[in-house]
Amino acid sequence: MSESLEQLQLSPQAMRDFGNQVVELLVQRFVDIDSSLVTQIRDPAELTDSLQSPFPDEPQDLEQLLAEVSDTVFGQFGQTMHPRFFAFVPSPNNFVSVMAEALVAGFNAFAGNWLEASGPTQMELATLQWLRRQCGLPQQAGGIFTSGGSVANLTALAAARDAQLAGELQNAVAYCSDQTHRAVDRAFHLLGFKPRQLVRIPSDAHQRLPIEALQSRFAADVERGLRPFCVIANAGTTNTGAVDPLPELADFCRKNKTWLHADGAYGAAAVLTQEGRDLLPGLSEVDSLVIDPHKWLFQPYELGCVLVRDRRDLYRTFKMTGEYLQDVETIPDAINLYDFGPQMTRSAKALKLWLSLRAFGVSAFRSAIQRGMDAARYAEGEVRSMDRMELVTSAQLAVVTFRYAPCGDGQLAEEANRAVVHRGLTDGFATVTSTVLGGNSVLRLCTINPRTTNDDVRSTLERLRAFGDEFVANK
Ligand SMILES: Cc1ncc(COP(=O)(O)O)c(C=O)c1O
Repeated sequence: MSESLEQLQLSPQAMRDFGNQVVELLVQRFVDIDSSLVTQIRDPAELTDSLQSPFPDEPQDLEQLLAEVSDTVFGQFGQTMHPRFFAFVPSPNNFVSVMAEALVAGFNAFAGNWLEASGPTQMELATLQWLRRQCGLPQQAGGIFTSGGSVANLTALAAARDAQLAGELQNAVAYCSDQTHRAVDRAFHLLGFKPRQLVRIPSDAHQRLPIEALQSRFAADVERGLRPFCVIANAGTTNTGAVDPLPELADFCRKNKTWLHADGAYGAAAVLTQEGRDLLPGLSEVDSLVIDPHKWLFQPYELGCVLVRDRRDLYRTFKMTGEYLQDVETIPDAINLYDFGPQMTRSAKALKLWLSLRAFGVSAFRSAIQRGMDAARYAEGEVRSMDRMELVTSAQLAVVTFRYAPCGDGQLAEEANRAVVHRGLTDGFATVTSTVLGGNSVLRLCTINPRTTNDDVRSTLERLRAFGDEFVANK
């Protein structure tokens, strides 16, 4: 073996030792997850010294490095799979998928074209087909797994742009509610649109896109010579879990030959349950849909997914060519997944979902999703029963919002709610963040983690209220 290769290799025994140490660390993490603090905000200067020391020329001891990574890197971040991590959208991971990630990295499994990756391609197609069927999309629908919801939205909207506008972006206009995730605005920016070409319509009292307001704005824009081409609906907003009226929007878009895209990055996975299907009528009628397995399908980062009603729309936008690909092109009927999304070199991302669905069975996923909705309802009931806590929006999918309300609205309540979040972030018992609804800061729990118990919910709410009382007492 050449000296240069030897320097980048471990002996079989060293690989086993290191691998076993890594696996042991991961197992401990899963076993101890609820005994650790959820989030600790640290002073950047505190961490600079150890993490920014120069990279050495000489090898260092792997066991010591692992200890350093475990303490300094992984010891200092938001534990998004912790049962009391309720902020943003948690990522309640599972161990089988973690091992799948290790396998994909170890085999360096590519999933870009058939020539190099027929196995990974078939596995990804099978997983996409399963998701497609869950969402009720027709057989000709297809898609691709992405790094997450932002890239999945970008991918879908690129296909919508090309299908609808044939390269002529001027005067084109699209619509969404003011509750839509800003990843959509960023996608529009990247796709070459001006901010005014995405119209954010004020949502109704239930944080949904009001169809009448959409209709009248649409008609006025046509009158002004604009070219409406797309409506972006929410299949579960990040703020409150609200679902836009998908059947009415589908009907409206069909009549007006407009593309209907649904961002279900967080909420669409609920379709696995009967309750979720009832909450997401019309999901099967959209032209494109985003669903993020790294949210409510319990996968580690990064895994998003885009499904498009007619997969040829993705192919039109993303088909990859190049003289260096001539051998790939000679394989008859081969599906090359890099023709369906923006990445060329892409790993076998779907393996973690495929393996965990098989290992645990779909019913385990179904009941874990149902548990998230039940936990949000439980949280709502607790908030309703607590003095000085005020429900703002009821449990929708798995989000509930509320306020610490010492004396109704007003400046004191606003300051108290911001202070409650900050106090919680330094305390580390639970992580709860806020959002803004109707101009007021509100606290928000996203309860998709099946590890979360009712006790976790209740003790978190009580602690938040105590922080609020403490703030008011010291005012
Ligand atoms: C509704 C919605 N859309 C898009 C995104 C962006 O997804 P990602 O963070 O995976 O890029 C999120 C993230 O929380 C989301 O909740």
